[in-house]
Amino acid sequence: MEWLEPLSQTLLARALILSPTLYLLMNAAHIMAIGVLFGTILSLDLRVLGMFPEVPLQSLAPFLSRMAAIGAIVAIFTGACLFSVRPHEYAQNPAFLTKLALVTLGVAHALAVHRGTGWRTIRAGGGASTKLRLSALLSIMIWTSAVIAGRWIGFL
Ligand code: HEM
Repeated sequence: MEWLEPLSQTLLARALILSPTLYLLMNAAHIMAIGVLFGTILSLDLRVLGMFPEVPLQSLAPFLSRMAAIGAIVAIFTGACLFSVRPHEYAQNPAFLTKLALVTLGVAHALAVHRGTGWRTIRAGGGASTKLRLSALLSIMIWTSAVIAGRWIGFL
């Protein structure tokens, strides 16, 4: 794990280690970004699954998926900052490694769905296919597990 050492020597990591207030703000930013990410993904997936049929999917889908992307980018940046404070410890934490695997799976799955015909159909005003609904169910399971794994980090 020696290759992780330079991470904890960066200016930002040193600042986060020396300033509990800065660490608190970075952790809070991580939680807020996760809230945006999880909240928008859950809302979109529940709509794809057929809830709130009065809300037009054609306009909702691009809006919520862009908000989710913003949440993910900020969560990944703030998470990497938090990681840099104790890289060796986190890299050996099974909960952290599980979360990182789930986040990677979640992002890859979302990108695959956006390239699929099901997504193109709803963008064109069509209904959600069975395949897209199954993808929505899988997405909810992946991101719920990622949040639980994230919370689990502090317990190990
Ligand atoms: C993008 C999706 C992500 C989600 C949903 C997520 C979720 C979470 C959750 C729920 C927590 C617990 C927050 C708390 O209660 O204080 C957490 C903490 C943390 N996350 Fe993430 N995270 C994400 C990305 C990342 C990434 C990419 C990294 C690192 C590269 C990371 C590193 C951390 C660290 C170091 C902590 C602090 C753990 C602790 O000491 O308690 N996160 N994350």
